[in-house]
Amino acid sequence: ENIFYSGDKLNIPFDAKWEFPKERLELGDILGEGAFGKVVKAMATGGICSYQTNVTVAVKMLKEDATEYEVRNLLEEMQVMKTIGAHKNIVNLLGTCTQDGPRYLYLVVEYAAHGNLRDFLRTHRGQEYGYELPHQHMKTLPTPPSHLDMKPLTQKDLLSFCYQIARGMEYLTSKKIVHRDLAARNILVYDDLVLKIADFGLTRKVADQDYYRKMTNGRVPVKWMAPEALHDHKYSAKSDVWSYGVLLWEVYTLGGSPLATVPMEKLLDLLRAGYRMEKPPYASYEIHTVMLGCWRLNPKDRLPFAELVVQFDKFLSDCK
Ligand code: ADE
Repeated sequence: ENIFYSGDKLNIPFDAKWEFPKERLELGDILGEGAFGKVVKAMATGGICSYQTNVTVAVKMLKEDATEYEVRNLLEEMQVMKTIGAHKNIVNLLGTCTQDGPRYLYLVVEYAAHGNLRDFLRTHRGQEYGYELPHQHMKTLPTPPSHLDMKPLTQKDLLSFCYQIARGMEYLTSKKIVHRDLAARNILVYDDLVLKIADFGLTRKVADQDYYRKMTNGRVPVKWMAPEALHDHKYSAKSDVWSYGVLLWEVYTLGGSPLATVPMEKLLDLLRAGYRMEKPPYASYEIHTVMLGCWRLNPKDRLPFAELVVQFDKFLSDCK
C-alpha cells in the first residue's frame, strides 16, 4: 500500500484503476505554481474516469528541481486521494500518470473554471464595498474584467459557501484526514458555485481523529493557525476547525486578509489573551458567534464540523 520513494529508479506499482496514458493529456497554461510544484491546465482526451469524452482537467506535477521531500509529498497526496474516495466538496482525483517514475508523476484532478475562492470573492466585490479597499483615495475603483460573470454574490451564496466547505471538511474528518492548510486560497470554485477543498499537499492521514502530529517542514500559514498549532505544531481536526473559522471571516470580508495588522511574533500572545477578529460588516451576529465557536482556545471546546454543517444548513433554510 505504501510507496517508499528511493531515487528515480523505483517505479510506482501500476494501478489499472487510475492509470491514464500521458499521450492522451494535452497540456496547456500553468494554473498555479508553488514550492510543491505546479498545476497545469490540460485536455484529457478519449475519456477519463467517468467522463466519456474530452474534458478539461488540472494536472498536478513536480518542478524540474523537486527535492525528494516534494516527491514524497506528491506520492502521499496521490495515496490519500486514491484511498479517501470521492465527495462533491473535495477536488477529486480523475487519474494518475505514474509509469515514468515518481519524479514525473502526474495527478489529474477536476478543473475548477472559476479559480480559487479568495480571488473569486475579491473579483466579486461590488463598487459599494467600502472595506479594506486598497485604493480608497482614488475617485474611481478599478472595474472588474468584463469577461467575468459579475453577477453579485448574495447572502445565500455566502451561506452556501460556508455550508459546502463544512460538508467537505466533515467528509475529510470522517476519513481521518487533517488538512492543515484550510484557507480560501485552497478552496476551488466550480460551475454553479460548487466549492471543493483542494491542496492536499500538507494533509496527513492520522491514526485517530484526536491524534496530534507535528508538521516537520514547509510554509506556515500563521494567520489561519490554531494557537496549539502555532505553539506546538499540534494539528488535528480541531485545529482545522480554527482555520475554518478564519475561512468564514474571509468569506464575509469577500476575501479580506485576516489579522493583517498583527505582527507574527505577537500573534500567539494576543490569541491566548482572548483577542479575536471582530464581526465583518457582511456577517450577522449569529455568523460571528459561529466564528467565535471555532476560535475557542481549548480545542475540545470548538464546534465539530458535523455541528457546523447543521448550523449552516439551518441558516440556509432560514435565508429567504
Ligand atoms: N489551480 C490549482 N488547482 C486547480 C484546479 N484543479 N482547477 C483550476 N485551477 C487550479
